[in-house]
Amino acid sequence: MKVYITYKIPEAGLKRLEGKCCFNFNEQDKLLSKKELSARIADVDALICLLEDRIDRDVLDVGEKLRIVSNFAVGYNNIDVDYASQRGIMVTNTPGVLTETTADLAWALLMSVARRVVEGDSFVRSGKFSGWRPELMLGSDVHGKALGVVGLGRIGQAMALRAAGFNMKVLYYSPSPLDRENELSEWATYVDLETLLSRSDFVTLHVPLNDSTYHLIDESKLLLMKPTAFLINTSRGPVLDERALVKSLKEGIIAGAALDVYENEPALSPGLSELSNVVLVPHVGSATHQTRNRMAEMAAENVIAVLSGEIPPNLVNKELLQQRSARL
Ligand code: GLV
Repeated sequence: MKVYITYKIPEAGLKRLEGKCCFNFNEQDKLLSKKELSARIADVDALICLLEDRIDRDVLDVGEKLRIVSNFAVGYNNIDVDYASQRGIMVTNTPGVLTETTADLAWALLMSVARRVVEGDSFVRSGKFSGWRPELMLGSDVHGKALGVVGLGRIGQAMALRAAGFNMKVLYYSPSPLDRENELSEWATYVDLETLLSRSDFVTLHVPLNDSTYHLIDESKLLLMKPTAFLINTSRGPVLDERALVKSLKEGIIAGAALDVYENEPALSPGLSELSNVVLVPHVGSATHQTRNRMAEMAAENVIAVLSGEIPPNLVNKELLQQRSARL
């Protein structure tokens, strides 16, 4: 059984594969082009890929023997899942393990932009700090404010739970309200997106990227936000119209933003990096030693399961199971 990995993943994942299959990985420190990727997967049974690898119809067609595409990420908008299902190829991801880690980062971004941590750091390093001043680098309070969570899935809920420690009011917008048994349902209020945007002091995005969430936050939505409010995005860049964001930050429509993800990653929209009221980090929501090791193990475990004829623990296209049981 042959496995190809499009970029070196943490050792913990490679160790899981050792002795179970024959695997190779891209040893260069750069992503493969579509042509390079296609050339490497013609005869492989399993592919482990990154969220930056576009696994479209053409790529899937080249992989004639492919049985599984194992994404080293929870989001899988980079894969044509419908087409994979048509071809009977299993698609897996790495959910759960990165929930708390990503919520930690979203929270770090929120605090950084509200209290001007990054600006303060540059100020001190550049030798401009000449002592305590009554109005030096004033920021915005976080405690007691309203947090608006857009998308209350696993990461959105973890973000909302952290707000309790800051005595914040939580508003959320999701396809449906939480079940009554959910501990959050008592103190998080379900509202429509417009209400959330107009009432929140901090808006944090946690929706997956798909046709219905592309540019969910566009110019008209940004206009609904308070001029004192901040926007945090750790989901996927295209959920937010980045050019509209730059315009609204320049014009004072909103107070600031903190981003981990970008619309045309790794490129930034013109003007974004020149603004002082933004905090920008390089898509590191799940980037801790512990979480990336566990993600690598999960990506490998999904592959091993499929190659052993078992159902992988993190199957995305569950419709394949129905097809399978209908055939039996
Ligand atoms: C990271 O963005 C992921 O989807 O895992």
